[in-house]
Amino acid sequence: MRTQVGIIGAGPAGLMLAHLLQRAGIESVVLEKHTRDYIERRVRAGVLEQSTVDLLNDAGLGERMRREGMVHHGIQLRFDGAGHRIDFSELTGGRGITVYGQQEVVKDLVRARLDAGGAIHFSVDEVGLQGLDTQRPRISYMLHGEAHELECDFVAGCDGFHGVSRQAIPADKLTTFERTYPFAWLGILAQAAPAHDELIYAYGDRGFALFSMRSPQVTRLYLQVAPEERLDDWSDDRVWQELHARLETHDGWRVNEGSVLEKSVTGMRSSVVEPMQHGRLFLAGDAAHIVPPTGAKGMNLAMNDVLVLARGLIEHFESGSDAALQRYSQTCLRRVWRAEHFSWWMTSMLHRFPADDSFQQRLQRSQLEYVVRSRAASASLAENYVGLPASWGTEP
Ligand code: FAD
Ligand code: PHB
Repeated sequence: MRTQVGIIGAGPAGLMLAHLLQRAGIESVVLEKHTRDYIERRVRAGVLEQSTVDLLNDAGLGERMRREGMVHHGIQLRFDGAGHRIDFSELTGGRGITVYGQQEVVKDLVRARLDAGGAIHFSVDEVGLQGLDTQRPRISYMLHGEAHELECDFVAGCDGFHGVSRQAIPADKLTTFERTYPFAWLGILAQAAPAHDELIYAYGDRGFALFSMRSPQVTRLYLQVAPEERLDDWSDDRVWQELHARLETHDGWRVNEGSVLEKSVTGMRSSVVEPMQHGRLFLAGDAAHIVPPTGAKGMNLAMNDVLVLARGLIEHFESGSDAALQRYSQTCLRRVWRAEHFSWWMTSMLHRFPADDSFQQRLQRSQLEYVVRSRAASASLAENYVGLPASWGTEP
């Protein structure tokens, strides 16, 4: 079998790349190790930057997002029992974010792909990459117990942090930059109306908590926990008690409780590999870099990578020029490192680090006060949170 672009992974990156290529008349095959049902149910990100919203709209995928997504014009930072609003609209000249679950984006992308007659092979196994240094790289895989090989012009590694693509690059050709954090997030999805209309990031002695949402009927909540925390030790009652304690305010505001639809623990890590390319393999999204979720950047970066990659591949197939493809890694990394810094900064400001002494905690408190009291500091948070314009990072 042959295709122009072999895409490994049907997450937001792989599916969006396939869609952008298909619109330009470029053929691709998407290989995904899980089932369609699994990828459409996996609860993860929720915040879309303006440039991601624009990309979905421009690519003809925004219809349901415009109907069901919730546009937010600010967030709240909460500490010492009081909330402080960061007004994105006012601080960024009218920009905002859209709350729309990643699994909804994935559902819209899968539907668009199948409607256009594009190939996605679910439940593939034993994916391997060969001939990356040649003009004809190959992907081998098992499907329904049979061995297959796909010959491609290019391979896009969109298979997330634990995928095989990055590992197919010889170790001496990559540099990895990494931080791990001494905590994780326990997240729940609850059948409960959001008790507040914007996201709340809460700092306190008991640790960080985040209040978010998915719809007018569904609340999404997170608690900072120890990295080795066992879900079995967190009954629904214990989760609610802890959420109330960490999110409470002097005026008696409380989250609404409801039945818990999903519960999971996610580790926190920052990681970047450079370059994001080896021969004819291009890494995109979590396969090349991950951020802690505090800045809500992961899915947005994945979308930006594949927009840059699609442009490079279109240029190659239309004009034979590889100029944009050669700049791929450099172009993406400028935005990636901005998001790495912002996510690390938000994480460091808002979490309780087990090793921190009282000096460090006073610094955190001072940083929070500065961010909510200084217009310059709030504007910096707002500018990074809503996301830098799409052109940022693509200009010399
Ligand atoms: P993935 O979504 O990981 O997709 C990779 C795909 O490849 C998967 O479907 C996987 O099954 C498949 N795959 C893996 N290995 C193989 C293989 N060997 N062969 C074939 N297929 C394979 N980001 C935000 O922007 N905003 C947020 O608010 C936000 N919140 C988050 C909250 C949580 C709790 C978590 C965990 C993440 C959050 N993120 C957020 C990050 C975001 O979910 C990721 O950055 C995003 O999923 C990256 O997309 P991707 O397509 O690169 O990778
Ligand atoms: C979410 O709604 O899942 C979410 C929101 C903001 C974050 C992380 C996750 O920073």
